[in-house]
Amino acid sequence: MSEQGSGIGSDESGNGDGDVVRGDRFSGGPARGFLSSLSADERIFTADLAVDRAHVVMLAEQGIIEDETAGEILTALNVVEVDGHGSLPDGEDVHAAIETSVVQKVGDDGGKMHTARSRNDEVATCIRYRLREDVLGVLDATLALREALLETAESHANTVMPGYTHLQPAQPTTVGHFLASYEQAISRDTERLLDAYGRVNQSPLGSAAFAGTPFDVNRERVADLLGFDSVLGNSMDASSARDFLVETVSALANLATTLSGIAEDLVIYSNRGFVELSDDYSSTSSIMPQKKNPDTLELVRAVAGDAHAGLSGLLSTLKGLPRAYNRDLQRATPHAWGAIDAVTDAVEVTAGAVATATWNEDVLAEESAEGFSTATGVADLLAMCGVPFRTAHELVATAGEADYDALDSAANDVLGAPLAEYVPREEVESALDPETSVEMRDSHGGPAGDAMAEGLSDAEATLVVHEESVAELVESLESANELLQTEVNDYV
Ligand code: ARG
Repeated sequence: MSEQGSGIGSDESGNGDGDVVRGDRFSGGPARGFLSSLSADERIFTADLAVDRAHVVMLAEQGIIEDETAGEILTALNVVEVDGHGSLPDGEDVHAAIETSVVQKVGDDGGKMHTARSRNDEVATCIRYRLREDVLGVLDATLALREALLETAESHANTVMPGYTHLQPAQPTTVGHFLASYEQAISRDTERLLDAYGRVNQSPLGSAAFAGTPFDVNRERVADLLGFDSVLGNSMDASSARDFLVETVSALANLATTLSGIAEDLVIYSNRGFVELSDDYSSTSSIMPQKKNPDTLELVRAVAGDAHAGLSGLLSTLKGLPRAYNRDLQRATPHAWGAIDAVTDAVEVTAGAVATATWNEDVLAEESAEGFSTATGVADLLAMCGVPFRTAHELVATAGEADYDALDSAANDVLGAPLAEYVPREEVESALDPETSVEMRDSHGGPAGDAMAEGLSDAEATLVVHEESVAELVESLESANELLQTEVNDYV
């Protein structure tokens, strides 16, 4: 065996073909770079060290390796950590390189680290371990964005603005109602990510290549040391499953789609002068000095492309893979990292843009009174006074403008009687006012003051519940970290 091959993936576990015994025959060749994931694995460098530590502690506790050897390996791992990923020896991946480094420091006994496991269960564990941190990061970002949306919604609960369907002025609503609509959508994105987290946080370690191991491993103990909620049972599934990546990236793709919507709305609204982004979230033109462009939001809108590409890349990579581990899986992982980084950034930028934007109340009020956006409210009023809604709709459509006389003459045409026979003039006139029109819509979830206040306080309550859930998850990882550290310290 070459020096390079010494200890790396040498099949001490006796776990079948999961780890090729790399002698000279496999140590080089033109495909070496193509095979290697070492640089991409920087992302799971810290995760791999934790996984190695937990595994070694468990091996010693189970009497599979001697305490002294465990101590030597754990000490070597500390040095590897301090030296950093950049100092690792060459290797096919981070798992192989760390093992080589340990063997270089400890001698042949360092190779005992890989007893009763394979890189297959190892990498699956590392990805889950690292992904938890990233999912917590994006979860945190969604919470901050929701906070920004709710705060701004509260201060603009009574700021009337035009509401659109088909991008045509439809009915007046409020800036608060508009912003809270996105908060509610992102709340579901938070929930989807929390849900995905539960399935990410399961431990495949101890599955070895796929077929289990003859050693008396304690998979539950390793899971505890690494902060996993549970152990994934069937070892063949555990070592090869990547659906946890799919569902995480799918939740991210959904979130990015939500973000692209708010970004698009804000781009349009800034074009119409409804809202002004702060300079920090705008950009200018290199040639047109007067320009202030909503570039950050355009990029947020585009991040949906990254997330959707990640999802489609993952699904295409995984489709049709036979059981159990196949090297294709190595190329699946970066799709997830790319998506989570891009979406986390986009969430943070959106939060900043929302928190610092200025809503132009005068322009919004003016624009809300444009056209006949109160038409539905007038039809509703007539229907409340006994005119069948369909007839009321026809009457208002016949009038075609926000004007009492036009409505009155339409009433004569459609109902054969003046409008005042059905509803007092003041009520019609007030229904023509955008602000009153909003106040009339006080159904559950509507924009009227009371309904809105209730909606905002429900949203706040849900946000607090989600904040607590995320804090609990963070805490549970922190205490697992401490536990692992304490156990390691017993050996070094
Ligand atoms: N670098 C590999 C990956 O990311 C690790 C597992 C390699 N296992 C193997 N049997 N070749 O998937």
